Amino acid sequence: MPDLFDQATYADLRKPLLDASGLPPVCYHDPAFYRRELETIFARGWTLIGRLDQLATAGDYFTATLGEAGVVAVRDNDGTVRVFANACRHRGTPLVSGSGNLRSFICPYHSWIFALDGSLRGAGGMEQTADFRLEDYPLIEVRSADWGGFLFACLDESAPTLAAWLGDLPGRLSHYRLEEMVATRVSRTIVACNWKLWVENFMEGYHISTVHRSTISKQKVVNMPEDPGPGQVVSIYERHEGTRALLQGDSGFPPIETLAGDSAAGSRFLLIYPSSMLAIAVDAIWSLVCTPLGPESTEVTATYCFPKSRTERADFEEIAARYYRRVDITLPEDDSICELQQRGLRSPLARPGRFSAKEKIVHAMDNWIIDRVVGPAEPIG
Ligand code: FES
Ligand SMILES: [Fe+2]
Repeated sequence: MPDLFDQATYADLRKPLLDASGLPPVCYHDPAFYRRELETIFARGWTLIGRLDQLATAGDYFTATLGEAGVVAVRDNDGTVRVFANACRHRGTPLVSGSGNLRSFICPYHSWIFALDGSLRGAGGMEQTADFRLEDYPLIEVRSADWGGFLFACLDESAPTLAAWLGDLPGRLSHYRLEEMVATRVSRTIVACNWKLWVENFMEGYHISTVHRSTISKQKVVNMPEDPGPGQVVSIYERHEGTRALLQGDSGFPPIETLAGDSAAGSRFLLIYPSSMLAIAVDAIWSLVCTPLGPESTEVTATYCFPKSRTERADFEEIAARYYRRVDITLPEDDSICELQQRGLRSPLARPGRFSAKEKIVHAMDNWIIDRVVGPAEPIG
């Protein structure tokens, strides 16, 4: 087995796209490599955890996972959105799961009570404990920030700000009015593959005519990776007629009124490193977040968003169902191919492959990962 933490192992990956080879297959299942990814990537970057509109009123909450840390996002009584470790300060029990609304967090183990701002308000039974003061045991708050209505969190206090992480993305997407969108549906699926396979698949269109041959392959699409900006973001722009958010033949909502130029004539697929993705069509957007659960297990959270004006229409649910159907048919096609690929890569006979010109982002992403897990490439010459 190659030394996965030696720069020399990745010499071929470091070459230009059309000369390069992919990651060693063992990077997709080795526990030590996976652990290093958690430490150097997921513990340090920003992850999309949900939408602010999912926290419309005080007490609304949802849970999410940041690397190995369970967290809960909540709107407190002052209207501030906060993200906390989803762990009781007594003996660590998660306080909540899923989403909902509550007036305070009451631990399911011994009923310690935390206010929505994280302060510990009640700890019955602790009266005799020496030097125990409620104010010393608030919930642990996690760094959070938002953009376009999307809430992100980061475990690393020394990481760049979210604004620096996103670079010029907010400016490039301002005309989509993302902050005026509403999340109308969230689905979660556990896929038996390494997180990288799912993200790589999402960021290339090469597989569409094979994997999605009977569903979305008919549309004529010109696929163009965009120049990376200063942020930790890579993106593909696809020029085409109509929307990519529906199956062929279905009719939907009108395009977003504020779009012009390229945005009105195609779709964007973005990866905000490491594993937060946006599919931006002319009439709807989805966010997709891959949460690694283990070297060969990934949770995919898909959130569907529409402009608020669409959600207020009497026929919203009827039309939105067509958008959901599109994704409910095509995402399982991606899940299945990623699971199949995982089985192939687990073989001791598996070898690194080569890239097509259509896999520019896969190559960029794999290099980004090795920059963090092993270190930046040494300058040539
Ligand atoms: S673990 Fe939460 S009250 Fe004991
Ligand atoms: Fe796909």
